[in-house]
Amino acid sequence: ASGRVVDRLGRPLRDLRISVTDRCNFRCSYCMPKEVFDKDYQYLPHASLLSFEEITRLARQFLAHGVRKIRLTGGEPLLRKNLEILVEQLAQLRTVDGTPPELTLTTNGSLLARKARVLREAGLQRVTVSLDGLDDAVFRSMNDVDFPVAEVLEGIAAAREAGLGPIKVNMVVKRGTNEHEILPMARHFRGTGTVLRFIEYMDVGATNGWRMDEVLSSDEVRARIAAEFPLVPLEATVAGETAQRWGYADGAGEVGFISSVTHAFCGDCNRARLSTEGKLYLCLFAANGYDLRALLRDGASDAELASAIGHIWQGRADRYSELRGTLAADTGTRGRRVEMSYIGG
Ligand code: GTP
Ligand code: 5AD
Ligand code: SF4
Ligand code: SF4
Repeated sequence: ASGRVVDRLGRPLRDLRISVTDRCNFRCSYCMPKEVFDKDYQYLPHASLLSFEEITRLARQFLAHGVRKIRLTGGEPLLRKNLEILVEQLAQLRTVDGTPPELTLTTNGSLLARKARVLREAGLQRVTVSLDGLDDAVFRSMNDVDFPVAEVLEGIAAAREAGLGPIKVNMVVKRGTNEHEILPMARHFRGTGTVLRFIEYMDVGATNGWRMDEVLSSDEVRARIAAEFPLVPLEATVAGETAQRWGYADGAGEVGFISSVTHAFCGDCNRARLSTEGKLYLCLFAANGYDLRALLRDGASDAELASAIGHIWQGRADRYSELRGTLAADTGTRGRRVEMSYIGG
C-alpha cells in the first residue's frame, strides 16, 4: 500500500496539513466573524477530536504515500493542550526516503512567546505567524478581540530566539482595511531574515461575506512595494509552493505573494488536509471530506488505512481556484464549503 501516489491530474501527495482544533482566540472577520462564531457557536465536542495517537498513526500512513511536510494548523493550534507532545510524536516519523518530515506550524502568534521553546525542544522546525498589520489600532480591530500587536511581535522574537526559523509572516490584505499597512510591514521585516508573505483575501468558507472588490491583487501589492524597494523574481524552492517569491534588489531578503484569486496555483497542488475530527479534505474549498476517523475507530489495520488514503488521493481532481468564477465552481460547492477555522487554511 505504500509508495508515491498521484491524483487524476498527476499531482503527487507531498504536504499534509493537520488541523488540531477548530477553536481560536481571535475573530478575524475574514475567517471567524463574530456574528457567526459567537458564544452559541457549536465547536466540535472533545470526543470527536482525533487523539494525538490517532493523528500520529494517520500521519504515518500519509508519509508512506510520499508526504514530506507536515503542517499543524487550527483554528489556533496552540490552543490545543500539550501540543508539544504531538510534535514529539510526529518528529519520530520518517518519510519514504528515511528522513524526518519537515515539521511546521501556522499560528496567530498570541501564545508563541510562552510556547516557542518547548515546541522547538519537541522537534518543531519552523513557524509561520499570521500578522495583518503593525499599527496597533488596525491590528486590534482586524483580530476583533482587541489583541495588541506587541504581543505577537514578542511571539515572533521568541520563535526566532528558540531557533524556529526561518520564520514566515502571513499578511492577508483586504482593500480598504489594511492596505496602508503593506509598506510599514515590508519596511519592518526587510533585512530581518523573516519572510513576509502577502495573501490575497480568499472566498473560503461560507461566512466571511467575501467580495471581489475587497481583494487587492498581488500584482498591485508588489507594485506598491517595488515603488519603494526594487524587487527581482526568484525561483521557486520547492514544487507546488503557494507563494511566488521576489527578492529585494539590494539583498535585504525576500517577500512572497500568495495569489489564489488572481493566479491560481492548483496545477501542482500537492496538499491534503486532515480536519480536527479526522476527515480528509482534498481541497481548501471542498464541501465534503472522507471520514478516516470512522475507519480508525472501526479497527482498520495500518495497511487498510494506507490503502484507503491512496485510493482517495488517486481519485482527486479538485482545482477550485482555477475554476473560480466559472459555472463548474458556482454549481459545485458554493455555500456549503467548510470553514477555514475547521480545515486549517
Ligand atoms: P509554507 O510551507 O511556508 O510554504 O506554507 P504554506 O504557504 O503552504 O502554508 P500557510 O499556512 O502559511 O498558508 C499560507 C496561505 O496560503 C493561507 O492563506 C492558506 O490558506 C493559503 N493556502 C495554503 N495552501 C493552499 C491551497 O492549497 N490552496 C489555496 N487556495 N490556498 C492555500
Ligand atoms: N483569505 C486568505 N487568507 C486567509 N487566512 C484565513 N482566512 C483567509 C482568507 N479568507 C489566512 C490566515 C493564516 C492562514 C493560514 O490563512 O491569516 O495566515
Ligand atoms: Fe484565528 Fe487564524 Fe482564523 Fe484569525 S485567521 S480567526 S487567527 S484561525
Ligand atoms: Fe489546491 Fe484546492 Fe487550493 Fe487549488 S484551490 S491550490 S486544488 S487546495
